[in-house]
Amino acid sequence: MTIKAVVFDAYGTLFDVYSIQALAETLYPGQGPQIAVLWRDKQIEYTRLITQSDPHSATGSRYYQPFWALTRLSLEYTLDRLHLDRQQGQVAQLMAQYAHLSAFPENLAVLQTIKSQGLVTAILSNGSPDMLASAVQSAGMTELLDHVISVDDIRLFKTSPESYGLVLTTIPVHKDEVLFVSSNAWDALGATWFGFQTHWVNRQGLPFEALKPEPTFTGPDLRSVLLTLGG
Ligand code: LAC
Repeated sequence: MTIKAVVFDAYGTLFDVYSIQALAETLYPGQGPQIAVLWRDKQIEYTRLITQSDPHSATGSRYYQPFWALTRLSLEYTLDRLHLDRQQGQVAQLMAQYAHLSAFPENLAVLQTIKSQGLVTAILSNGSPDMLASAVQSAGMTELLDHVISVDDIRLFKTSPESYGLVLTTIPVHKDEVLFVSSNAWDALGATWFGFQTHWVNRQGLPFEALKPEPTFTGPDLRSVLLTLGG
């Protein structure tokens, strides 16, 4: 296999969203894990709802809102759904944390190794450009990424083919020369359907989606991407 570009999903793959759960637990004792899961599920649900209902939003958006706005709305929904008070600035605190997530511990060294191999490195994310910029900076990844690509440019979220297609309009490579890396099984599946080679980072030891095909490669953390590239 010839890989020329390694393209990463952002949230959960490069940026550790666990700190969100820890802060949620501090703000709402006993509720942290539930908040984190419901918030994430609702956030992704809203992206799909919008792109499915507004599939040409780039040319005439009716329902599109940037990922940052959807992240806030899904958090508000989550707290309301769990009957938790959000009048004391909790939403602002959690959103501030979301803007400055840290990287998983192995990520910087892995990105450095990939860059030293002469490969192009990039992020492709649903995240809006400003939130990605602040996360990349907070995680110390600015020098390690050649491109930070946001679907906000076309207002179509993953897993639309157009969103994955942004990689090919940004980096001069063929589909099968891209290794797309995500810890989200649905994202790995969407990228596999699109035609990328894929590497699913299965940090939580989950079964893959019941839909086929499986990703090209799977490993437990970002270090396993180096095995994929070396193999
Ligand atoms: C992203 C989210 C979906 O970064 O993880 O695109």
